[in-house]
Amino acid sequence: MDSAFWVLATLLAMAAVVSWAFLKTRKIHMAVEEVRENLGNKLENLFRQEQFLALLHAELDLDLPLPPAGGWAASPDFLLLLARHARAAAPAVVVECGSGVSTVVMARCLQLNGGGHVYSLEHDSRFAAKTREDLERYGVAGFATVLDAPLRPVRLGGRDWPWYGTEDLPGGDIDLLIVDGPPMPVDPLVRYPAGPVLFPRMRAGGTVFMDDTDRPGEREIAGRYGREFPDFTVSREMTEKGCLVLTRGAG
Ligand SMILES: C[S@@+](CC[C@H](N)C(=O)[O-])C[C@H]1O[C@@H](n2cnc3c(N)ncnc32)[C@H](O)[C@@H]1O
Repeated sequence: MDSAFWVLATLLAMAAVVSWAFLKTRKIHMAVEEVRENLGNKLENLFRQEQFLALLHAELDLDLPLPPAGGWAASPDFLLLLARHARAAAPAVVVECGSGVSTVVMARCLQLNGGGHVYSLEHDSRFAAKTREDLERYGVAGFATVLDAPLRPVRLGGRDWPWYGTEDLPGGDIDLLIVDGPPMPVDPLVRYPAGPVLFPRMRAGGTVFMDDTDRPGEREIAGRYGREFPDFTVSREMTEKGCLVLTRGAG
């Protein structure tokens, strides 16, 4: 009787250990698979961005490689979309929210087009100075102006939003608007004022490119724009960070 009990108890204990080991191994296996898949997606995206960067360099035909793209700066796929649009549409007035490598890319496109000007709103004077240096270095300073535009409250829909001071922007219609700032840590909806402040100045047929629209804040902003600006048609581009394109109807 005693020995039968101990045999049974030992078998049960062994079964418990084997089950525990099986579950543990399965969990580790699933975690490794997840890491492998994430790494695979990251590598695939890296490879694709390298290809977009090569296409962008071919499009711009610069003597120097571009400053680093991606991360805080716009990614190569978004920059390529902007460059192709600027080369095809030949905008006269480009307004940009958030300066950097995109300012250099746009200025170079306008130089290749033989006309047009970029006005880039920048709230941080250190990044404004860096972009101005880059514009000089790439020989395109004549096609872009970086405007020091510290964020300050603007009253919209009953609340104050931090937004660029726009008093230094020249008046008149905007052909192309790039929304890639202010940076999100300020507030997830921080880029919303681009719509109410600048969309009314878009000329008929003018286009707005908005970066980072895979983020929840930008998704909410996109919903608001859809409701508040019915004269704009909206489409999406499958870029690394998500891109919304809004085009103002002919009137
Ligand atoms: C998304 S970035 C703008 C990027 C710009 N359109 C470009 O393509 O480089 C938005 C803002 O982040 C700030 N910024 C730029 N580089 C940064 C960095 N390395 N770290 C922190 N903030 C940065 C600047 O004030 C910039 O206007």
